[in-house]
Amino acid sequence: MTERVAIVGSGLIGRSWAIVFAAGGCEVALTDSGDGVAERALSLVAEGLEELAALGLIEQAKSAAGRVRAATGLADALEGATFVQENTPETIEAKLDIFAALDRLAAPDAILASSTSTIVASRFTEKLKGRHRCLVAHPVNPPHLVPLVELVAAPWTAPEIVARAKAFYESVGQVPIVVQSEIEGFILNRLQAVLLVEAFRLVEDGFVTPQDLDKTIKDGLGLRWSFMGPFATIELNAPDGIADYCRRYGPTFARLTGADPNIFAGENLDRILAQWGEAPKPDQVAKRMRWRDQRLAALKAHKRSQPER
Ligand SMILES: NC(=O)c1ccc[n+]([C@@H]2O[C@H](COP(=O)([O-])OP(=O)(O)OC[C@H]3O[C@@H](n4cnc5c(N)ncnc54)[C@H](O)[C@@H]3O)[C@@H](O)[C@H]2O)c1
Repeated sequence: MTERVAIVGSGLIGRSWAIVFAAGGCEVALTDSGDGVAERALSLVAEGLEELAALGLIEQAKSAAGRVRAATGLADALEGATFVQENTPETIEAKLDIFAALDRLAAPDAILASSTSTIVASRFTEKLKGRHRCLVAHPVNPPHLVPLVELVAAPWTAPEIVARAKAFYESVGQVPIVVQSEIEGFILNRLQAVLLVEAFRLVEDGFVTPQDLDKTIKDGLGLRWSFMGPFATIELNAPDGIADYCRRYGPTFARLTGADPNIFAGENLDRILAQWGEAPKPDQVAKRMRWRDQRLAALKAHKRSQPER
């Protein structure tokens, strides 16, 4: 079945979502409360699709653009929509208003997903009849180039809605993660916050210049991070995997950050190991290291081929 997506709010993020969904084969209706905004978004969406096609990331830019229309208003956009991606301004008042309207006007089985960066869904969906079909689906700007989507359910969101949303975002090439319960900043911005606070402190205390700090990420940590996360990274950085790494380096990391060293041991470590799965055998580690090094080499070649700015 072709999904029919309503994009509610066709600014920066709404337009980029339209590219994702159109490229993924969906019928897309754009709407915006601003005069002419949805209509103007059409040409920006078409341009974005052309750029993806020029890079070989999608095949049929023109037919994808043909699946996107500017609706005459909210009710028209929601007509027949199976999935709604809301991208209105980041205020609680805006989210309360628009979700009340969406719940009233959208088909009862349509999923209502908010792009909000900071507001948990329980703050703007509690009173809604259809609150079970509402959730946060937080993208990273611009979602047509950065695929991560953080799915954050309210306590009353039905598990099958989260499962349907996850399958849907995967079907259009995004990478959804499920945040297991509501938390301010979700996951990405909490990680970013810790890094940024430490960066500011290190500069403030005169240990490094902002330029050298940036090099530490873009020519250091960030290279690996573009294709493996911190858990996959540390698994390869000690001979016997994550547990071994935690034994060797956990106390040091705890001391550097003022964290309780027990987060690297005991029950928490057991939980992480149980969720992560078996430690790889030495031959698997060697194979994975070769894979990592090939990816790093390819990335190095790509970076060398690009101007610095
Ligand atoms: N910009 C980012 O980097 C980023 C990243 C992730 C998530 N988000 C989230 O996406 C959402 C949208 O952000 P943006 O950057 O696209 O903002 P934006 O200002 O570019 O776009 C918002 C659009 O919503 C329209 N609008 C306002 N009220 C409306 C209504 N009632 N019905 C329909 N349209 C309405 C406005 O006219 C505007 O075109 C916010 O919740 C924001 O937190 C933004």
